[in-house]
Amino acid sequence: MFSLKRAVQSALVGVAFSIPVMTQAADTASTNTVNFSTDVIYQIVTDRFNDGNPSNNPTGNLFDGSCNNLRKYCGGDWQGIIDKINDNYFSDMGISALWISPPVENMNAVINDADGSTSYHGYWARDFKRPNPYFGTFADFDRLIAAAHAKGIKVIIDFAPNHTSPANEDVPSFAENGAWSDDGVFLGAYTNDVGDFFHHNGGTDFSTIEDGTYRNLFDLADFNHQNPIVDNTMQEAIEVWLDRGIDGIRADAVKHMPFGWQKKWMSGIYDHRPVFTFGEWFLGVGEIDPANHEFANESGMSLLDFEFAQRTRQVFRDNTADMNSLHNMIVSTNNSYQEVSDQVTFIDNHDMDRFHQNGGNPRALEQAVVFTLTSRGVPGIYYGTEHYVTGNGDPNNRARMPSFSRTSTVYNLIKSLAPLRKQNPAFAYGSTQERWLNDSVYVYERKFGDSVALVAINRSTLTGYNLTGLLSSLPNGNYSDVLNNRLNGESINVSNGNVTPFFLAPGEVGVWHHVGSNASPNIGHVGPMVGKAGEVVTIDGRGFGSATGQVRFGNQTANVISWEDSQIKVNIPSATAGKYDITVSRNGLTSNAYDDFEVLTGDQVSIRFIVNNAFTTFGENVFLVGNQHELGNWDPNQAIGAMFNSVITSYPTWYFDVSVPAGENIEFKFIKKNGSNVIFEGGANHTFTTPTSGVGTVNVNWQQP
Ligand code: NOJ
Ligand code: NOJ
Ligand code: CA
Ligand code: CA
Repeated sequence: MFSLKRAVQSALVGVAFSIPVMTQAADTASTNTVNFSTDVIYQIVTDRFNDGNPSNNPTGNLFDGSCNNLRKYCGGDWQGIIDKINDNYFSDMGISALWISPPVENMNAVINDADGSTSYHGYWARDFKRPNPYFGTFADFDRLIAAAHAKGIKVIIDFAPNHTSPANEDVPSFAENGAWSDDGVFLGAYTNDVGDFFHHNGGTDFSTIEDGTYRNLFDLADFNHQNPIVDNTMQEAIEVWLDRGIDGIRADAVKHMPFGWQKKWMSGIYDHRPVFTFGEWFLGVGEIDPANHEFANESGMSLLDFEFAQRTRQVFRDNTADMNSLHNMIVSTNNSYQEVSDQVTFIDNHDMDRFHQNGGNPRALEQAVVFTLTSRGVPGIYYGTEHYVTGNGDPNNRARMPSFSRTSTVYNLIKSLAPLRKQNPAFAYGSTQERWLNDSVYVYERKFGDSVALVAINRSTLTGYNLTGLLSSLPNGNYSDVLNNRLNGESINVSNGNVTPFFLAPGEVGVWHHVGSNASPNIGHVGPMVGKAGEVVTIDGRGFGSATGQVRFGNQTANVISWEDSQIKVNIPSATAGKYDITVSRNGLTSNAYDDFEVLTGDQVSIRFIVNNAFTTFGENVFLVGNQHELGNWDPNQAIGAMFNSVITSYPTWYFDVSVPAGENIEFKFIKKNGSNVIFEGGANHTFTTPTSGVGTVNVNWQQP
């Protein structure tokens, strides 16, 4: 029975559907460090993956070679990752990007509590310019990068500039007292902080962004990013790793660092060597936060897509939401994220319960993996997911990698789907349209130009559905399931936009696709989406043609550096700072407009604006506005804020850290806003000459109107 079905399908393949000969398109190359939409990321907890060099393992209380005590180092290292790169564990799966634990030197202390916690995870830094010796030397790190690049795999480092390590204001002897060094030179520690490197405002209760930014995250010694040495060291430190050839950055705890400083830090990274950077802004189940969207749209960084992750878990894992709400999430995130295909999708990570549960239905995991790999966004897979690893809570969700076999269903689903993100731009860049929907069934179509992918998922384990009236943009023909019927998918027939009705069995998943000719220009991705005049921007898509045409930022023409059918590089034009839609034109054809590229005035500095004696009535808040694009160009609707008044300063003194142009004479005023009601300060504009680099502070009194 099974073989008959197979035989019929293979007879159908090739009738109307022929796979075009694939030469690798430029946008999909592993050298493309600003676009990960054609990649699948694999997240590795370095210590837990593979011990390739036992001689670098820590000793004593730091180490448990059996990995039974998951709070100790287990021995995993960069050599272990190199070994798995070289034996094609990742390439065979179609993985083209690895996200590894923070690589920097961490504290060596064992926290003297019941657990004896260590820094095996890498988030308790001591020296951001040096490698963690238990993961390897710089030479090992360089070999990791080289081994990955040799296989067309990108390397993303985790980086945590919010803090050093756990500290206790009253107990200098606790752990390492949050001590930090700059390339081996001791700078300071948490107590007796004469350098003013850290915040000393207690731990956050997570009640507001301000509280979470300027108080400690748990007991972690929280950096004061407005300190010039902290700022400069973080800029230099990330450049150490950029210069070693990393391809991406996962920025830890971005909700807990000042937005203005991060925007300035990002503009420095893009000026130095642009790589795809995505931040971690944790959202709980059902949580939707406009500040999260604003961060993704304005900071220059993408985000891990927690809305996607939480809803996908609800629908497939926990059965606390249905397919309608899954579709609603796809629609609403498409509206709230300016570049939704640049956010990193996932179903679990090292801070969440593993998706798969003891006794859980493996099909639920398999469906969630297919959904993630075929949806908009850059998909990420947490190590061990391919082996149905379980474990609730930290550190149980960080067990040692149990196996490197390549036979599991999930391994082979990833193997089928991951390469399609490079072959068919509908997966990497396409829009999403709902085609058939009820509580249990979601059929959605991805479309980019004339490239199309259709996905059908039935999450019910009991009920099958007759899919009648299903429409699709797939051209006429028969389509075999690209999952090779692994999840019981069938071949479908499409005629004039109608899919011949078929029975979607309980638990069934099918994926069908067509690579179009993509003859007219379509922009799928622009990276980075912010920069100053002259910097290089990469525009990816299809149908740009081989002869050089025009790229416009609004109506300004950009200088073209290189032009290929799927990739164009340009310099940012010297346009007035502001937001511009990008278009590509050739031979009278013009692409879609890729919205809201931000041209900065110039290099950025992070300035703390402080205003005293700004008394407000209930509902009123203080904002900042001024004569620069970065200060809203005097438009109260673009004013910066609401400013803060509870941690660093107290009402009626307000403060806010803002990324503004370096070395400029700026003019500004504070305003009081209550909804659309705006009160400007009186008197002359405040003036300030910003420093040529780094950070600064300006402190003025409110001028009565
Ligand atoms: C989020 C990380 O993912 C988590 O594992 C870490 O402990 C905290 N940030 C603090 O760095
Ligand atoms: C905009 C003007 O350009 C600025 O100088 C002035 O202070 C504010 N409006 C408030 O009137
Ligand atoms: Ca080791
Ligand atoms: Ca902080």
